[in-house]
Amino acid sequence: MKREIIIALDFSNLDLTLDFLNKFNGKKLFVKIGMELYLQNGPKVIEAIKNQGHKIFLDLKLHDIPNTVYGATLGLSKFNIDILTVHAAGGEEMMRAAKKGMIDGGSNNTKVIAITQLTSTSEEKMLKEQLINVSLKESVLNYAKLAKESGLDGVVSSVYEVRDILEKCGEEFLTVTPGIRLESDDNGDQKRVATPLLAKEMGSTYIVVGRPITQSKNPIKAYKSFEEKFIK
Ligand code: C5P
Repeated sequence: MKREIIIALDFSNLDLTLDFLNKFNGKKLFVKIGMELYLQNGPKVIEAIKNQGHKIFLDLKLHDIPNTVYGATLGLSKFNIDILTVHAAGGEEMMRAAKKGMIDGGSNNTKVIAITQLTSTSEEKMLKEQLINVSLKESVLNYAKLAKESGLDGVVSSVYEVRDILEKCGEEFLTVTPGIRLESDDNGDQKRVATPLLAKEMGSTYIVVGRPITQSKNPIKAYKSFEEKFIK
C-alpha cells in the first residue's frame, strides 16, 4: 500500500491556507480540510485546493441518521474528494449510506473511512460518558470491524492500534493516523503521539501531520523530515 503524508490545514480562512500552500512551489500535496476551515469558508475551499492539484482528505466526521448522511455524501460526491470521514458510532446503516451516497453521485474513487474513538477520549471517559465497559483498544477494534463490515475503506486511529486493526480487517484496510511528531517536536495538546518511523513500522497507510509542518519556520524542510522517516 502506498504510504502518504497528509498535512492538516488547520487555518481559519482560505487566504492563510493558500499562502501556506504557495510555499511548496507547486508541489502536489495531500491535505486535510477539517471543520475549522470548511465550516467557515464552505465548498470554495475544496474547489480552490483541488484546482491546485492537491489531494483532499475532508475530515467532517459526519454523524447523523442514515438518510441525512446519504444526502450529505451525495452532495459532496461532486467535489472529487479523495477521503471523507464519518463516525463509526453512527452505526452500520449510516456508514453504508455514506458510501452509497458517494457511489450514487458517481464518486467511486472517494474513500470513506470511519472515526473510531477520538484520541481525546480516555478509557475512563469512555466508560463514564459512553458506558462502554471494555478497553479503549477493544472499542477501537470493534468500530474498525464494524466499518469494514459496512463496506468502508478504512479508519482513523492512533498508531498504537494499527497492527491489531490490520490483523482484524486485512492489510488492504486503510489506516489514517494523526498525533505524529518527530523526537524534536513539541507535542502540543496531543497525548498519544508517535514518530513517523513508528507509524511506518506499525503499518499506517497515511500519517496526518499538522502543526509540526504548518507552524514551522521552514515548512518544506519540515515536510521533508517527515518524508525521510515515513516514505523512504
Ligand atoms: O497539529 P497536529 O499534528 O496535532 O494535527 C493533527 C490533526 O489531526 C488535527 O487536524 C486534528 O484535528 C486531527 N486529528 C487528531 N486526532 C484524531 C483525529 C483527528 O489529532 N483522532
